[in-house]
Amino acid sequence: MIKYLGSKRLLIPRLLKKIDEIGGLTTAADLFSGTSRVGHALKNHGIRCVANDHNVYAHTLARCYVEADADRVRGEATKLLSELMLAPEVDGWFTENYCRQSRFFKPENGRKIEGIRTKIQALELDPALEAISLVSLMEAADRVDSTTGVQMAYLKSWAPRAHNPLELRLPSILPGPGRAMNLDVLDAAREIEADLVYLDPPYNQHSYLGNYHVWETLVRWDAPEIYGVACKRVDCRDPARKSAFNSKRKIEATMRELVATVRARHLIVSFNNEGFLGRELLESMLGARGTVSCDVVDYKRYVGAKIGVYNPSGEKVGVPTHFRNREFLFHVAVDR
Ligand SMILES: C[S@@+](CC[C@H](N)C(=O)[O-])C[C@H]1O[C@@H](n2cnc3c(N)ncnc32)[C@H](O)[C@@H]1O
Repeated sequence: MIKYLGSKRLLIPRLLKKIDEIGGLTTAADLFSGTSRVGHALKNHGIRCVANDHNVYAHTLARCYVEADADRVRGEATKLLSELMLAPEVDGWFTENYCRQSRFFKPENGRKIEGIRTKIQALELDPALEAISLVSLMEAADRVDSTTGVQMAYLKSWAPRAHNPLELRLPSILPGPGRAMNLDVLDAAREIEADLVYLDPPYNQHSYLGNYHVWETLVRWDAPEIYGVACKRVDCRDPARKSAFNSKRKIEATMRELVATVRARHLIVSFNNEGFLGRELLESMLGARGTVSCDVVDYKRYVGAKIGVYNPSGEKVGVPTHFRNREFLFHVAVDR
């Protein structure tokens, strides 16, 4: 899976343990799905899952990891990825902007990525196969990128992995049904009812669209107008695409509304101890829906934070202050 700020890879065993302790859960909705690794783990655990995210690259990950039925598409997807590896290279918009104007990938990998993406577009694939091939390409590009894990900047000198050849691999798709949605979280919360709703919102000002703008462009394939050293899409600045959860001013009221809207017997919420909302405030908000308990999980900060602070030109401008932080895992047994 792609490198992703706030990814819950390390929390998943705790989450599954909690789900087993609750018992009897057959449906779940992950309303801020990101990489979809939570939905993937829940589907693998036998829970029927819906995954939602407002960014299109994350929705594509959900279509692959939660919605696609491996029993139906695994054979065709394997064949398709072998064919895509043979796609002729293309040196166009993507290579110019992300390999020469900026340096997210080496040009030889950029041309390969662009060739494969052009071919995916031309094939007009079945939706599941399209999502699987786009995720395979996103993950292949992620393995050869030259960043610290976010696309606000690229490294001044090429990362060692950037020299590796691009290779498509079959994502670990799972058998069975699932659903992916691409809505603002409040709309998704109104539409979906499940035994369990899981909420893992952004917890500070860093926008996911800004941090992963290259994946958004790779998936949308819309050659957007771009700005700045990192060649960000102009819609990163569009108020309509900003998340209320990235705003210190708006997050509290929006979280309150979300908690009030969710339709589930159980609610699990992840929140970081360095976020805009403190533990006591969250406990009182969640207490409006039922009985709240909280586990505290201590873990390493994300890789970029360990490497240091870089400016948009890829120069190191700060050193990390600490290497560990805590994640709160709240559970609400909903009774009102
Ligand atoms: C902390 S990340 C989730 C990480 C995820 N649990 C994982 O393990 O990969 C938060 C996600 O919320 C999405 N998001 C932010 N604001 C949103 C909103 N208003 N509606 C829907 N999704 C939103 C972001 O795109 C991001 O992927």
